[in-house]
Amino acid sequence: MIRPQLEDIEKVAKINNGKGLKYSILTMGCQQNENDSEKLSGMIEKMNYTKTENLAEANLIVFNTCCVRENAEDRLFGKLGEVKKYKEEKGTIIAIGGCMMQEKHIVEKLKESYPFFDIVFGTHTLHQFPTDLYKVLSNYKKIEDILDIDGEVIEGLPIKRDDNIKASVTIMNGCNNFCSYCIVPYVRGRERSRLPKDILNEINELAKQGYKEVTLLGQNVNSYLRVEREQNKKFEEYEGVNSFATLLRAINKIDGIERIRFISPHPKDFTDDVIEAIRDCEKVCKLVHLPLQSGSTNILKVMNRKYSKEDYLNLVDKMREKIPNVTFSTDIIVGFPGETEEDFNDTLDVVKKVHFEQVYMFIYSRRVGTPGDKMENQIPEDIKHERFEKLKKLVEDEISISNKQYVGSIQTVLIEGKSKNNDNMLTGRTDSNKVVVVDASEDLIGKMVKLKIVSEHMWYLKGKVV
Ligand code: 5AD
Ligand code: SF4
Repeated sequence: MIRPQLEDIEKVAKINNGKGLKYSILTMGCQQNENDSEKLSGMIEKMNYTKTENLAEANLIVFNTCCVRENAEDRLFGKLGEVKKYKEEKGTIIAIGGCMMQEKHIVEKLKESYPFFDIVFGTHTLHQFPTDLYKVLSNYKKIEDILDIDGEVIEGLPIKRDDNIKASVTIMNGCNNFCSYCIVPYVRGRERSRLPKDILNEINELAKQGYKEVTLLGQNVNSYLRVEREQNKKFEEYEGVNSFATLLRAINKIDGIERIRFISPHPKDFTDDVIEAIRDCEKVCKLVHLPLQSGSTNILKVMNRKYSKEDYLNLVDKMREKIPNVTFSTDIIVGFPGETEEDFNDTLDVVKKVHFEQVYMFIYSRRVGTPGDKMENQIPEDIKHERFEKLKKLVEDEISISNKQYVGSIQTVLIEGKSKNNDNMLTGRTDSNKVVVVDASEDLIGKMVKLKIVSEHMWYLKGKVV
C-alpha cells in the first residue's frame, strides 16, 4: 500500500481511538464490488470502526455502488433518502463510492438532490479512502475524489473478508471490450492485470489461513495479461505464469486450496490452452460461466460481442468433448434494441441446446454514454417484460430437469456453514455450484464431503452423508 495512505490510516485511528465507533457498508452489484468492499472494510477497521448492520447506530456509512443496470441507481437514491435523518440527527459520515461515481451526471444529481454526503470516491481512488476520511474528520470539508484516468493496480490494501472458507481474488481490473450495452469499460477503465507474484502470494496466504475455495475475478479473466503481452510490456513472470491458463495451473498446485472458480471469461477469448488447463487441473471446477448475452447472431453483432450463435454452440461442444463432466452457466440480456421475436427465439434455442446449470437473466437497461442507449429501435417495456417471463419459464423448466438428474448421484460438496433457513442443517455447493443442504455434524464445515443426493427442489438439492 502507498505510504501516505498508511499514515492517514494511523492518523484516523488515533482520532477515533477509544470512541467505540461503528460503520456500515452497503454493497451493490457484482462480486468485484464485494471484493472492493472487503478492502474498504479492511481499511475502515484499521481506523478503529467496528461493523454494524444497523444503519441507525453507524457513525460512518459507506455505499459501494454499481451502475450496470438502472435498478441499482433507484436503490442508492432510496437508501440515501433513508440515511439523511442519521446525518441530521447525529452527524453520521456518509461516503459514496464505486462505479456509479464515475458517471458525471450521477455526481451532479447527488450534489443537487442529496448534498448532505461527505465523500464521493470513484473506482480508481478506492485506496485513498483513508486520506479522504482524514480530511473530513480534520476540517469537515466535503470531498470529491474521482479520477477519470485509469488507476494503477494497488497492492497491499488491508482486507476484511466476509467468509472464512471461500475467498474472491481480483486478478485484473477494467475491460477493453466495449459491448454496446455495457457501462463497465467507461467506469472501470482499461484492462490491467495484477502481477502473477502478487496473486499467487495472496492465494498462498489464503491457503495458510484455511481458505478452501478461491474465485478469480475480472471483467474478462481469460484475457489476463493479454494487453501486457500484446504491447510487449515488461512484467515479471513468476512460477511460469504469463497467461490465464498458466495462472490456473500455478494455483492448482497450492496446497490447501481445494477449489478454483473464475468469473467471467469472454467466449471470444476462450483459447485451447485455457480449455486444457480446466481439463487438467483437478481443483478447477468444471462449471464454466460463459456469458451468452443473446443467442441471435444479428444481435450479438450489434452488441459488439465478436462471436455468432454458431461460434458459441461450437465452443460449448468443443469444451464438452475435451472436459469430462463440464457444465455451463450464463448471463442473458433480453430486449436489446432491435431484438425481434426471431432473435429472441434464437436465445431460447441456445438455452434449450446448452442446458445451463444457472442462467442470470437481465432486462436490457439503457446506460447513458453507451452506443446501445443511442440506438433508435429500443424495445417497449411491456415486450421486454414479456420476453423475460418467457425466458424465465424456460430456464426454470430446464433447471428442474437438470436437478432431477442429480437425484441418486454422489456429489463432492464443499460444506460452507449452517443453512440460513434452517439452523439444524448445513449448506454447501457441488462442483457445478448447486446448493446442497444436509443434516450433518458441524465438524464438516470447511470440508469436502461426499453426499448422496436424495431429493431436488427448485433452488437447492438435499443430500445425505455416504
Ligand atoms: N442491461 C442489462 N444487463 C446488462 N448487463 C450488462 N450491462 C447491461 C445492461 N445495460 C448484464 C450482462 C453482464 C452482466 C454482469 O450484466 O449480462 O454479463
Ligand atoms: Fe461489459 Fe462486455 Fe466488458 Fe463484460 S466484456 S464488462 S459485458 S463491456
